Amino acid sequence: MARHKKKKFAELATLANFYKLPDYIKGKWNAECFKNDRPIVLELGCGKGEYTNKLGAEFPDKNFIGIDLKGARLWRGAKNAIASKLKNVAFLQINIDNIVDYFEHEEVAEIWIPFPDPYPKPSKWKKRLVSSYYLNKYREILKSNGILHFKTDNSGLFEFARETLESEKHRILQIADNLYESEILDKYNGIPTYFEELFREKGEKIKYIQFVLGEG
Ligand SMILES: C[S@@+](CC[C@H](N)C(=O)[O-])C[C@H]1O[C@@H](n2cnc3c(N)ncnc32)[C@H](O)[C@@H]1O
Repeated sequence: MARHKKKKFAELATLANFYKLPDYIKGKWNAECFKNDRPIVLELGCGKGEYTNKLGAEFPDKNFIGIDLKGARLWRGAKNAIASKLKNVAFLQINIDNIVDYFEHEEVAEIWIPFPDPYPKPSKWKKRLVSSYYLNKYREILKSNGILHFKTDNSGLFEFARETLESEKHRILQIADNLYESEILDKYNGIPTYFEELFREKGEKIKYIQFVLGEG
């Protein structure tokens, strides 16, 4: 491993807002980490945490946890949150496949899934973060009627999400195939993520779905 990465990982382990595979925190995020009772909002696949940190700064009445596999990316997010004195932001290094091991039933109020990897090969459908495989995991940790937000630039992934939600009787609350030209654009869904800014600069249309999970 390169020396600069080793240094980052050593520092990461010491940051108070960073958690790697914590085996004690399921059901205790508010008590152990945030020390308050505010609603918990997740960003799945947060990369360097730009969006998690923006949400934390904009909405001090909620707690935000950015989740990613990659420690070097989370290091950047955690350092920026500390520099900005964001007490309502934390970062968790896990594989989202194992998310039910880290959150209790009904512990999470809301989930953002911005610009997940599209996995275009049909054989890889299960890996898409809006597949029924993942939606069933989210149901285990979300409060009833907890809201999910999904954004993508990818038309194939957008159609896959829409078809999955419709065929499995989940409830779509808002949908736009071009968010920035739509009437549903507001001060929450209009906060761009890092990838969103890149795609908008290239002229890509941003697609958005807000939904609630059905009974299953
Ligand atoms: C395309 S980036 C999106 C970053 C950010 N949400 C944005 O919109 O700017 C996708 C991120 O998801 C992470 N990721 C993909 N699959 C994951 C998994 N199963 N568990 C945890 N993180 C994952 C990747 O490491 C990557 O940082």
